[in-house]
Amino acid sequence: MQNFWKKLKRPIIALAPMAGITDQPFRQICKGYGADVVYSEMASASAIFYNKKKTLGITRFNSQKESPYVAQLFGDKPEHFLFAAKVIARQIRPDGIDINFGCPARKIIACNAGAALMNNISLAREIIEATLEGVSSPPSPKGYGEIKKIPVSIKIRSGVKKTTALNFIKKIKDLPIAAIMVHGRTLEQGFAGEIDYDMIKNIKKEVGEKIIVLANGGILKPEDAKTMLEKTGADGIGLAQGVLGKPWLFKQIKDFLQTGSYREFELSEIKGVAIKHAEMMYKKRGKQGVVEMRKHLAWYFKGFSGAAELRRKLVHVKTISEIKKILK
Ligand SMILES: Cc1cc2nc3c(=O)[nH]c(=O)nc-3n(C[C@H](O)[C@H](O)[C@H](O)COP(=O)(O)O)c2cc1C
Repeated sequence: MQNFWKKLKRPIIALAPMAGITDQPFRQICKGYGADVVYSEMASASAIFYNKKKTLGITRFNSQKESPYVAQLFGDKPEHFLFAAKVIARQIRPDGIDINFGCPARKIIACNAGAALMNNISLAREIIEATLEGVSSPPSPKGYGEIKKIPVSIKIRSGVKKTTALNFIKKIKDLPIAAIMVHGRTLEQGFAGEIDYDMIKNIKKEVGEKIIVLANGGILKPEDAKTMLEKTGADGIGLAQGVLGKPWLFKQIKDFLQTGSYREFELSEIKGVAIKHAEMMYKKRGKQGVVEMRKHLAWYFKGFSGAAELRRKLVHVKTISEIKKILK
């Protein structure tokens, strides 16, 4: 098996999966600023099972500009993970497949997927086993092509109701998982609040060198990355909300860890990044791409003097030339 995780230099700085955000343009921009590995948005294993082309499309990537790249699946049916993993490993050929055990969205929890699976060890194990089988079973006779044997990773929370992440990991660590990203907040905490550094540290101790552990949650600036690495002893970190409108955080973190300092980006540079991002979105998805770009534009120009007025204009843009005109 090609386990790219083992080849990455530590600390590994990853772009964590974010639905509606970590699409191809954003992943490529983050890669450009030094992301060591990038995750897709979560894609439904069941939708892929029922042959929804749009969902399989979420997992597509550009192997030149995005590798190493991990496609993330969510769902609650082992047989759907088996099928989706087979199709993705053969047709999409990412560097790895990740399973979502952390999503708190009500409709996902209601169907026993995402974070709900941390409370259902037997189903969680079946899903991991099915995914592992999907990426390693022989080529199908239906002409899906040669299998690419790729590592399987998981993404979890520090706890879900009475199940702690450590207990969860103790019960699944015998499976050949390559990496675990731990969001150091419980399901109940959602996306804000204190990070449980000790939980991540204990998980790293529990799995030793066998499994790569990435610590995630609350990393908004380079100093947070250093604290996270020091307090958890993790092999790397996953960045999410901290890179919204700030994809250069990857570079700042690397600079800070190597030299002890980093520089802030100036407004003129940020305008350049925003325009490049918008052009990539337009190229990928046409007019719809520009509409989807509006939220990124609002994030890029948060916190500057006069930003409120700028953002008010940017959230209505329909074309690239409008964006350029406003930013001039
Ligand atoms: C808008 C948004 C979408 C997200 N989508 C996913 C997802 O598809 N899969 C997943 O495992 N986590 C998802 N997450 C969780 C993040 O990967 C990350 O675990 C969480 O935001 C904590 O990290 P942070 O404090 O650095 O943001 C999402 C988070 C946000 C804010």
